[in-house]
Amino acid sequence: MRKKVLIDCDVGVDDALALILAFHSPELEVKAITGVNGNVPLDTVFINIQKMLSLIQPACKPLIARGADQPLKGEAIHAHSVHGQDGLGGAKIQCKDGETWWLSYPRHASELILKMAHQYPNEITLIAVGPLTNLALALKQDPAGMKKLKELAIMGGSVRTRGNVTPYAEFNIFSDPLAAQIVFESGLPITLVPLDVTHQVFLTPDWMEERVKPIGNAFSQFVIEATGYDTEAHWFKNRDAIFLHDPLAVAAVIEPKLVKTEKLPLQVETKEGKYYGKITEFKDGPKIEVGLGVDAERFLEIFLSRLV
Ligand code: RIB
Ligand code: CA
Repeated sequence: MRKKVLIDCDVGVDDALALILAFHSPELEVKAITGVNGNVPLDTVFINIQKMLSLIQPACKPLIARGADQPLKGEAIHAHSVHGQDGLGGAKIQCKDGETWWLSYPRHASELILKMAHQYPNEITLIAVGPLTNLALALKQDPAGMKKLKELAIMGGSVRTRGNVTPYAEFNIFSDPLAAQIVFESGLPITLVPLDVTHQVFLTPDWMEERVKPIGNAFSQFVIEATGYDTEAHWFKNRDAIFLHDPLAVAAVIEPKLVKTEKLPLQVETKEGKYYGKITEFKDGPKIEVGLGVDAERFLEIFLSRLV
C-alpha cells in the first residue's frame, strides 16, 4: 500500500528537491501540496509549486492550495540569500501555457489539510518542510479533524546542535515559533527531522560530478541549476555543499529506519529575544520522536537514484 502524503512547503531549493523525491517514490502517493510563507513570499512559493509540478508532470495531479503569507505572530521573514530571488536558485523550468499538472483548491491550505484528514481518516502523513503556520491554523480551526491525520513528519529545529538563523534556532521554527509550539502540543504523532540529522546529508561537488551530472535529464539539470553548481569550475557558486534538509524529511517517511529517533520532551521559546525559536528539552514538554542519527549513505542513494 502506498502511503498517502500531503506536503506543506515553502518552495525553496531543498523543498523542490523534496517534491521530486516524493513524486519519484513508489512508496508514496502525493495527494496534496500546500504552500506557506517561508524561504520566499507565499506568492512565489505557490508559483514554484506549480513550476515543480510542470517539471515533474505527475501521473495523478495533486490538489494544491495557498496558505499563510505571514506567521501567527511577528513579521514574515525570508531566505532569499540561500534560495535566490525566485526561490529556485534561478533554475529555468519550461511551463507550457495552459498545461496544468495540478488541481487548484480554492480555499485556504489549512482547509485542504483538514479536508484530506477527514476524507482519509488515519491514512494521511503530513510532511511539513516549511514554517508550521498552516498546521497551527488547521489545529485552531478543527483540532478533532487534525487528529484524523495518521502522523506528521516535520523538518525543523535544532535540538542538540547549532541553529542556522541564530546560533540557537533553525529557520522553519524561527519563522513561526508560536505555530511550532501549537503543533508540538497537539498530541499528534510527530517525527521531527532537525538540523541534528539534516546537516549530515549534503551534496558535494564530487557527488554532483559522479552521480548527478551523468544522469543527464531534466531533473539532474534542475539540481545543477537550482543548487548553483558550476560544471566547469566543479564547485557550488556560493557555498561548499548543499544540505538536503527537506528531502530527508520525505525519505524518513519512505524508509523510517533511515533516521534514528529518541522520544524527547520538547518546548519552543516563543518569547522575543536571544533564544527566540530555540527548541529545548524540557521535562514537562510534549514527547516528540526526534531524529538524532541518520544513515546518510543510504539516504543519498535513495535521493540520487530517484532523480531519474
Ligand atoms: O532550515 C532549513 C529549512 O528552512 C528547510 O526547510 C529550508 O527549505 C528552509 O525552509
Ligand atoms: Ca523548506
